[in-house]
Amino acid sequence: MEQSSGNKINTAVFISGRGSNLKSLIKYNNKKNSKILIKLIISNNSSAKGLIYAKKSKIKTYVTNFKNKNLSEKNLLKKLINNKINLICLAGFMKILTADFIKKFKKPILNIHPSLLPKYKGLNTHKRVIKNKEKFSGPTVHIVSSKLDSGKIILQKKVKILKYDNEKSLEKKVLKAEHKLYPKAIEKLLISL
Ligand code: GAR
Repeated sequence: MEQSSGNKINTAVFISGRGSNLKSLIKYNNKKNSKILIKLIISNNSSAKGLIYAKKSKIKTYVTNFKNKNLSEKNLLKKLINNKINLICLAGFMKILTADFIKKFKKPILNIHPSLLPKYKGLNTHKRVIKNKEKFSGPTVHIVSSKLDSGKIILQKKVKILKYDNEKSLEKKVLKAEHKLYPKAIEKLLISL
């Protein structure tokens, strides 16, 4: 795969809200030995808290609201091509990209989800996991396909659920694991390309 800036892969991170995974990816990006160069941060929401991290790090941002999905995706593709983006990392991006977008982008798109996929796709993951009295949960990084939270699994991290865990404490534990897992999964993916 063509990797444009030195040996780092030009990357765009897509967010919708809080942006804690974006923050951890920026931290990884800033390491000398990181494999990515985040060139663009995309949000479907102009008031996403995560955009603060983008501003602080002086990475370019682009907001498109997805009200007209086809138009948003068309404009996005142009941005991605203009910035020579070769990898997209979805990090709490709550819109579903169309099969057409995935096909036209042609390069890998990764997503992080807070459950041990294929279990607990979709929303309210931790609530459902606690309700079902699962013994383990944990994040998954996978390749994005046109089906929700599906596609080839790159890496998962098991997190033990203790008796006193609730939705909030589980979210906290899993999120901490997410922040470590995403950079590792990116490195694993890039080695395999
Ligand atoms: C994370 O827990 C991420 O795994 C989840 O949204 C949260 C975003 O947090 N993503 C999904 O549920 C995707 N299906 P963040 O904005 O602080 O990174």
